[in-house]
Amino acid sequence: MSLNRNTMTIQKLRPANSLIGTIHLPGDKSISHRAAILSAMAEGETRIENFAASQDCSSTLGCLSALGVQIDRRADSVVIDGLGKRGFRRPAALLDCGNSGTTMRLMAGMLAGQAFDSTLTGDDSLSRRPMGRVIEPLSLMGAQLVSSDGRAPLTIGRGGSLIGIEYTLPVASAQIKSCILLAGLNATGKTTVVEPVATRDHTERMLRWLGADVLATDHEGGCQISVSGDSKLSARNLSVPADISSGAFLMVAAACLPGSRVEMPKVGLNPSRRAILDVLTRSGADIEIGSETEECGEPVATIVIRGGLRDCEPLKVLRDGIIANLIDEIPILAVLGTQLKGGLEIRDAAELRVKESDRIRSVVMNLRKMGAHIEEFADGFRVEKSALHGTEVDSFADHRVGMAFAIAGLVADGETTILGAECADVSFPRFFETLESVVR
Ligand code: S3P
Repeated sequence: MSLNRNTMTIQKLRPANSLIGTIHLPGDKSISHRAAILSAMAEGETRIENFAASQDCSSTLGCLSALGVQIDRRADSVVIDGLGKRGFRRPAALLDCGNSGTTMRLMAGMLAGQAFDSTLTGDDSLSRRPMGRVIEPLSLMGAQLVSSDGRAPLTIGRGGSLIGIEYTLPVASAQIKSCILLAGLNATGKTTVVEPVATRDHTERMLRWLGADVLATDHEGGCQISVSGDSKLSARNLSVPADISSGAFLMVAAACLPGSRVEMPKVGLNPSRRAILDVLTRSGADIEIGSETEECGEPVATIVIRGGLRDCEPLKVLRDGIIANLIDEIPILAVLGTQLKGGLEIRDAAELRVKESDRIRSVVMNLRKMGAHIEEFADGFRVEKSALHGTEVDSFADHRVGMAFAIAGLVADGETTILGAECADVSFPRFFETLESVVR
């Protein structure tokens, strides 16, 4: 049941026995952003099937449209008429990135190479998030950026004469890497990003799909990626894999509820995104992967998850390199941790503090309210196996927090109320309807 109070939606959850059914997840958010931006920079027309329905990806389409790109959106397909790498038009107004960090950081890279000035803005949450991390490398490439204390609004001064750089990422971030690679498409010579910890490589794969010259090599445990400013992008139709990060909420719910059987077709299983499957398997979940194939240079497969966590060696701590591979899954892993013998500790995840909310704080506050034993660290938390009790919790206007606590509500006793549940639309529109359709 949901109530609408002003614009804030309240969702109420009751304990569930199991989840049963087939779920067609929305298109992957990260891949959809890249598909839209890079097909807008390509020559020719691209048809993108299963484009993410998320508000975040609509923000990207809105910005592209304001830059003169012709976009025809019908149901879950989008047709984009590419303008070429430097063919965009000066926008008549501010470019609104909404809640989307990916939109703002990738757009900044693309706009740095355009011969006009533009300003990117966002909502309250996005305006608090750090943008110095893209300002620094883009400035080294010769772009002029103005911000207030490294936060949005972010003005990109008349660009167009960028030089290729070699840049080592100070934090593990696919958004910063992608920003630099997009700017590199309009820079002289070669642009190289060194990442001490490998992050999601959708930009590299999408660039290759559209014919660009990209070289990725292993580098001291991480990766080094180069793109040439001479790269040509040619339109090429594609279908976006289903979003494994959206699937994670349902996977954890199904794993925790004995008797469940949930099937999810065509889920993106990019090696830089699939650590959630390993963590679930190591936690005793029964996961089967079948019908493996490829879409737009990305591995995809059908995932079947059967309920019940088998008794196994406690997981203990997740830290170091694996964190980047499941950074968006940590709120739901916190909920999983309450159901695991030995609990779960997450470290080296200070980046969570600068997501759509301070996710360490949000998760600790909500789980404590539900009766869990949880300790907060600067870079993570440790949660013990705990019986959860239904109560009122807040989404903190953060989609992944709201959805994680909806799942907590299914495994808790009594009734759980989620305040601000509408934020699920940021990445998973119809999340609550989808959940309701499989809850038994
Ligand atoms: C994303 C990268 C990650 C992730 C975000 C999407 C992307 O952010 O948390 O949801 O599409 O590149 P960071 O690059 O800031 O780690």
